[in-house]
Amino acid sequence: MIRDLSDDEAREALVCKWGLVAPDVLPAWVAEMDYAIAPPITEALHRAVAAGRTGYPQFAAGGALGAAYAGFAARQFGHEVDPERVVATVDVTAGVRLALDVLAPPGPLLMPVPAYSPQLAIAEICGRERRDLVVEPDAAHAGIDLAALDRAFADGARVLLLTQPHNPWGRVFSRAELEGIRDVVRRHDAFVISDEIHAPITLGDAVHVPYLAVTGTAEHAVAVVAASKAFNIAGLKCAQMVTADERLHQRLVTAPMARNDSWSVLGVEASIAAYAEGDAWLAALRTTLTARREQFVAGLAATLPLARMRPLEATYLAWVDLRAYGHDDPAARALDLARLQVSAGHDYHPGLAGHVRVNIATSEARVEEIVRRLGVAVG
Ligand SMILES: Cc1ncc(COP(=O)(O)O)c(C=O)c1O
Repeated sequence: MIRDLSDDEAREALVCKWGLVAPDVLPAWVAEMDYAIAPPITEALHRAVAAGRTGYPQFAAGGALGAAYAGFAARQFGHEVDPERVVATVDVTAGVRLALDVLAPPGPLLMPVPAYSPQLAIAEICGRERRDLVVEPDAAHAGIDLAALDRAFADGARVLLLTQPHNPWGRVFSRAELEGIRDVVRRHDAFVISDEIHAPITLGDAVHVPYLAVTGTAEHAVAVVAASKAFNIAGLKCAQMVTADERLHQRLVTAPMARNDSWSVLGVEASIAAYAEGDAWLAALRTTLTARREQFVAGLAATLPLARMRPLEATYLAWVDLRAYGHDDPAARALDLARLQVSAGHDYHPGLAGHVRVNIATSEARVEEIVRRLGVAVG
């Protein structure tokens, strides 16, 4: 069910991942997958374009998109979402900005780092101070230290940007961890923006728990979700904001249009198809990615035995500690010496040397080649 794209197809399809690197470079960087998109999505897009559906989307909350997401959340996560409280937005990054602008209390934004790199700039863009909560990403169990979280709120932070599952740690937070976070947040009357873009991409037997599925979170949290990562449709521009509290929902839907009017009608169509008809394809994707994970782990162990890779519980973005090989910037070496484009660890945690993030959502042959090239560059 999951069809690998050939190099030529990937260059046509993925103009960022494959188009921004030289032809001899193997791209394993930005979070896009070298797989053909799910047939129900292609069909929905063909139907929409044939019907001339290229105008504005419907601007009301809920609707077919809300119903499709609520069905997906119920089946995939056992989470009850009120379809009317699903509000579209252009993408997850814009959704986080919107949440900061209209939902979160004023005050510093707490970012656990390493963090998805573009989000490191979000606090400043939204006129807030950024405070970092440094997490040891190479620990066997990278997680949010509740005592440090408590101190950060006591010191004035007001909002936590919680990414879960986490990029780049690859962590899926357990319900108990989320309950611990909830308790600290409530103690300080703080706010949580839960970026759950990677929620559908759990690997093996990992289970995603939506933050809003944890009791006692409705009044202080918004989830920003999307079909974009799991179904490779980031360019279609449609994410969703989910609240479980009428007061927060009202703040979202009464925000002036100029704050949130840019999502695309084709993104809506594709997201509905993904949520309503994509379960079988998604199950196959998880199986494929789990196999690529096992392959990458085994290949890395054989080729670079001193490398340490965090257990990848979700996402297809492997976080690899290569410090034992003594290079500050292994990503630069990979490009220079082996024509392999991976992401540099210091992009996710400024000042952190010796790490790379490797995108393994590709064919078996390319994963083998990624490992070989890493070995050439770093070993
Ligand atoms: C955690 C996380 N949030 C947000 C994004 C970006 O999402 P969007 O393109 O919808 O803004 C990514 C992209 O990989 C991501 O990993």
